[in-house]
Amino acid sequence: MKPSIIVYKKVQQEIKNKLEQDCSVTYFEQPDYEKDPLFWKHLQKAEGLLGSGLRIDEDFLKKAPCLKIISNSSVGYDNLDLKAMTNRQVMGTNTPGVLTDTTADTIFGLLMSAARKMPQMHTLVQSGQWQQKITESSFGVDVHHKVLGIIGMGRIGNAIARRAHLGFGMEILYHNRSRNEQAEKDYRAQYCEQEELLRRSDFVCLMQPLTPETKHSFGREQFQQMKKTAVLIVGSRGGIVKEEELADALKHGIIGGAGLDVFEQEPIRKDHPLLGCSNVVTFPHIGSATLETRLEMDRLASDNLLKGLKGEVPPNLLNPRNEKVIVS
Ligand code: DGY
Repeated sequence: MKPSIIVYKKVQQEIKNKLEQDCSVTYFEQPDYEKDPLFWKHLQKAEGLLGSGLRIDEDFLKKAPCLKIISNSSVGYDNLDLKAMTNRQVMGTNTPGVLTDTTADTIFGLLMSAARKMPQMHTLVQSGQWQQKITESSFGVDVHHKVLGIIGMGRIGNAIARRAHLGFGMEILYHNRSRNEQAEKDYRAQYCEQEELLRRSDFVCLMQPLTPETKHSFGREQFQQMKKTAVLIVGSRGGIVKEEELADALKHGIIGGAGLDVFEQEPIRKDHPLLGCSNVVTFPHIGSATLETRLEMDRLASDNLLKGLKGEVPPNLLNPRNEKVIVS
């Protein structure tokens, strides 16, 4: 008998065909699938799950007694409690690599948008206020040849540095758990302690994963260490920045502006103080969202899932099963 799996995101027909060859698949394509009692019913016999963002913890695992693998169609895996999954011998996988350049494009675009106030300019044109409203106070700041500080120099941070240095002649500073000698060679990136990076950068880009160490690690104290004109870009995960303190820093001119693609709560609530700031640009978590890249991510996620169900080691296994200590 084919193993039962649940796909809890919209996927293209190609992915459906591939999965259905080996599995009996139930699809939940609506965003509020968690409210559907059928989801929980199917979960009782599901051996695999494919999707992104679903919070998996001990309680969830109790409701999924047959589960063998959870395949995230995302590079981030802060939704997975890997320790609990390892204890239950449930594999977790993600989709690194295939989304690097697309996400770096988005985050660099967000930086450009925030620096040059692009969405605000579009709104002016659209509302017929071209002549009345384009004054010096609506001008942005230059990006080229400025200093970009990247906190979290993984694959995507590195791809942002490439764009910034080779394309825009920017000076690159970075802070990371380990040195990135290739970036130091290729983009003359300089490793700095965070405080020095914040003091020297015109743009600060946060690209770390969300972990217990990074959660709420960026707030008032860090904004005060930045230049008054600096622009903060939040590109990896919400929950790292204290958003209320960011809104306060933007309103009081502690920093110059911000661009965010990710938020602590998604979707962000309409009356959130950040949305009331005129010097903020927001995207709805679309870092990897192009048709081509999302398809590549789903291809990789389905490879991971099918390999795991066949008893093979999936290419992007996050919790090698025999390891005793797993970092969650
Ligand atoms: C990722 O892959 O982690 C992106 O943020 C999309 O969730």
